[in-house]
Amino acid sequence: MSQAGPVRPDPPRRIVLGIGGGIAAYKVCEVLRRLTERGHQVRVIPTETALRFVGAPTWEALSGLPVHRDLFVDVAEVPHVRLGQAADLVLVAPATADLLARAAHGRADDLLCATLLTARCPVLLVPAMHTEMWEHPATVHNVAVLCSRGTVVARPASGRLTGADSGVGRLPEPAEIVDLATLLLRRADALPLDLTGRHVVISAGGTREPLDPVRYLGNRSSGRQGYALARVAAQRGARVTLVAAHTADLADPAGVEVVQVGTARQMREAVLTAAPHADAVVMAAAVADFRPANPYLSKIKKVGFGPDPVSLSLVVNPDILVELVRRRPESQLVVGFAAETGDCEGDVLTHGRAKLARKGCDLLVVNAVGEGGAFEVDHNTGWLLGDDGMEAHLPEGPKSLLAAYVWDAVAARLKQ
Ligand code: CTP
Repeated sequence: MSQAGPVRPDPPRRIVLGIGGGIAAYKVCEVLRRLTERGHQVRVIPTETALRFVGAPTWEALSGLPVHRDLFVDVAEVPHVRLGQAADLVLVAPATADLLARAAHGRADDLLCATLLTARCPVLLVPAMHTEMWEHPATVHNVAVLCSRGTVVARPASGRLTGADSGVGRLPEPAEIVDLATLLLRRADALPLDLTGRHVVISAGGTREPLDPVRYLGNRSSGRQGYALARVAAQRGARVTLVAAHTADLADPAGVEVVQVGTARQMREAVLTAAPHADAVVMAAAVADFRPANPYLSKIKKVGFGPDPVSLSLVVNPDILVELVRRRPESQLVVGFAAETGDCEGDVLTHGRAKLARKGCDLLVVNAVGEGGAFEVDHNTGWLLGDDGMEAHLPEGPKSLLAAYVWDAVAARLKQ
């Protein structure tokens, strides 16, 4: 198995970015900036209402291209057909209740809706609206119609809305929108609704075991792979509980319940509490195998220590994955991760196979770590091993791509 080396950037693609008439349009400026920084050519089509929130000069400056706003400009070039036909992805954010209704009905009376009708590439609509509008049966019906046609309608986040309101309907963070768009550019079929009605529990991040109130034993896990698993599962329809350890840099994924923990024992408690009725549990966290036997209640002072080596007494932490496997209900799938470097005893894959057998889980994702692989980076690669002998190579790509392959395998097994 090859080590994960420097990642190749995604090739530049042609993206149509439609802007709906909602206040969240200002957050989409950041989405546009991130997409163009990745080298993509982004054609912006704001609706007339969208231009009342953010003007054409902003979109033109950020995209480096003229804004397309009217069916009756450059008519000889037939823009409503050309833009949709040429796109590799059409992304609409914010997708307002009105825009969802118009798209569901196949309206073609402005450039953006006409482009949606001519696009044959993946279409990602990212809604943002007040909770009442999102939950209204008309909107629910429109979303169902769009999804039945293969359009991906992202799950909105919860939180502060315009004014004093708070609830479901907030635009997901720009980084999350870009991640979903990047995923669809890599795999058009990465976000089916095949986890609808399922509950999944995912652990993420790295636990920290205190030595004293200031110091800890920790590891380099950033939590990004676990967050990508949670984001993709939620977008595939699942109810998601994410147990996260030390992931303060990461925004909560849209539609996901996040439980924050610190130590391995806290993670064990949170995961075992959430797991009993879950359809699948994925242990992506880097759990500390050992903890200091006697953590100090006050800061350890160096006064009193001489030049001789100082030893630290450690005790073994519970193995959460093994406990999950032992306690699980019959129908529950348990997925582990293995961070391996390979050594004189065997390569990464050999260690992975042995770990799958030792832990007794259904699936094991094997990552090569060290040398720029897996930790603190946005990309990942590896192998997916199954207890039935399956061994699939996971192509290098964003962590959400690896997440999509894991959920493919989980969804297929749950269906059986
Ligand atoms: N794991 C766990 N509880 C622990 C240690 C690990 O649940 N105390 C889980 C991890 O979340 C991961 C899997 O076990 O899903 C493998 O973790 P890894 O650190 O690769 O393996 P270890 O069992 O710790 O074995 P070793 O470090 O010796 O390779």
